[in-house]
Amino acid sequence: MCGIIGYVGNRHPEEILLEGLKSLEYRGYDSSGIALKNEKEIQIIKSVGKISQLEDKIKATKLIDCNMGIAHTRWATHGGPNEVNAHPHRVGKIVLVHNGIIENAKELREELERKGIVFQSETDTEVACALINEYYEDDMITAIDKAVERLKGSYALGIMLEGSNKLYAVRKDSPLIIGVGKDGMYIASDVKAIIKETNQYILLGEKEIVELSNHSYKIIKDKKEVLKEVLTADVSKEAQEKGNYKHFMLKEIMEEPIVLENTIKPYLDDMNLIPDLTCYEQIHIVACGSAMHVGFIGKQLFEEKAKIPCSVECASEYRYKDVLYDRKTIVIVISQSGETADTIAALRKAKENHIDTLAIVNVKTSTIARESDKTLFIEAGPEIAVATTKAYILQVAMISLLAYRSALVRNKEEKRIENELKKLPRLVEEIINRRDTYLKIAKKIYQEENVFFIGRLMDYAICLEGSLKLKEISYIHSEAYQAGELKHGTISLIKENTPVIGIITNEKIKEKTISNMEEVKSRGAFLITISNSKVDCGDINITLPKISEYLEPILVVPTLQLIAYEVAKLRGCDIDKPKNLAKSVTVE
Ligand code: G6P
Repeated sequence: MCGIIGYVGNRHPEEILLEGLKSLEYRGYDSSGIALKNEKEIQIIKSVGKISQLEDKIKATKLIDCNMGIAHTRWATHGGPNEVNAHPHRVGKIVLVHNGIIENAKELREELERKGIVFQSETDTEVACALINEYYEDDMITAIDKAVERLKGSYALGIMLEGSNKLYAVRKDSPLIIGVGKDGMYIASDVKAIIKETNQYILLGEKEIVELSNHSYKIIKDKKEVLKEVLTADVSKEAQEKGNYKHFMLKEIMEEPIVLENTIKPYLDDMNLIPDLTCYEQIHIVACGSAMHVGFIGKQLFEEKAKIPCSVECASEYRYKDVLYDRKTIVIVISQSGETADTIAALRKAKENHIDTLAIVNVKTSTIARESDKTLFIEAGPEIAVATTKAYILQVAMISLLAYRSALVRNKEEKRIENELKKLPRLVEEIINRRDTYLKIAKKIYQEENVFFIGRLMDYAICLEGSLKLKEISYIHSEAYQAGELKHGTISLIKENTPVIGIITNEKIKEKTISNMEEVKSRGAFLITISNSKVDCGDINITLPKISEYLEPILVVPTLQLIAYEVAKLRGCDIDKPKNLAKSVTVE
């Protein structure tokens, strides 16, 4: 969601900025733009649509000779995706790019309009730009500082000033890093955008203002200079390339066995590395999107195995509701990026209420990783496809380990699962290699309008993600339903050939779910069953290996991910960058 890259140094910025924007594409966007600057001029080029469209425009333009520039991918919030609203914006001497949302933009806009400023766009970004311009007299740090005092909401800003050879940036609640290179200095939304140039970076803190020159940087907070550590990124260039795969999504699914092995390994020898949660009387799992679906799997395991009451909520609701912390509570937040705005807000709410927090995160340098009391990292490496796959499966593995560890403490008789954990990566590998079956299923689905996923208890939790994966990348409407609930309304949508995917991994409720499968079949559904024991009532039946209940979801998930992938491919969708979606949702 919105990506920023900026450069000042010895080189012309064109290639650096374009390459940076391309590596930020995965975050999701609908327009883009760049601004180039030398002592005399500022040149701005913008385009709606893909970066390749911006690139074509840039190639067709005579660029100014310069060594500084900022660029941006925009995911529309205030005002539709058109060229006027695209960044960079310019007001007076100031040109800037912005990621985030300025919440008091309306009020500031009215105030500035009263002073005679005429805005060109509908954006909150142009308001921030005008505000800094308004405050600028002869010192940019003071002007930015004054603007920061007034701006409410979240922002990462990359700023240039006419006539100056310095590049400026500031952030609050929105990610921004500084890159330290041999040929110059960079700002970026994440390290991936600059990794081809340098792996040396600095994490910019809340409301810290940075002033960059060709080879130096100065970070200022509350008018005082701040010294910060230069970190080394471990993001390899290969991890960011598709290699021989047609899509990042497929590459990332194929990486699942190895990343599972890497994530599980430390705990096989010492399960005590996982925190014991039995001292808590309740667990709140809070997250967004697929990460929230991980929570529903966690809920089943915490309640059934570790006997700890657990509720799951989407972070955008949790942050605003009256939460009952009447019993000893731990809040578990789950986030691949560690930068999801609502999840950060939920985490902060728990902390303000003096509640213990634990995060399951992929990005080690993220805000959530830094702010939560305890963090369990998954080892997914960079995930580029917008729709999460390998990070999701690792989050499921991690929440299962958490529940298992508490269950071991709670129940001395609990059956150990370490041996099965060791086998898990190989079993996942076997499952992802059944590509022909997934293609066969996809051919039955890809021209349909509706698909239903049904299951009970844990199987329903798995259905939620299977359904999301399918609809987000293939644009086919799909719903996940508790198998027994379907007949209370939704069954009226089942007609001849409507695909229904039914999941059964639990012997206890097997016969019940089979009855629900028969109900849809007798109304014409094309039934696909996925089970870990013999089920033969489907038109296509997939049988998975039997494994511990803790790990069962991990075997079903790749099957559903690959069905979604094959369907989207048959429909010719832009699989890695589904329309309107963003990888890292840094606004509310
Ligand atoms: C976006 C992504 C989803 C992801 C969700 C939460 O909506 O498209 O794939 O599950 O954000 O992201 P997080 O980084 O917090 O896991």
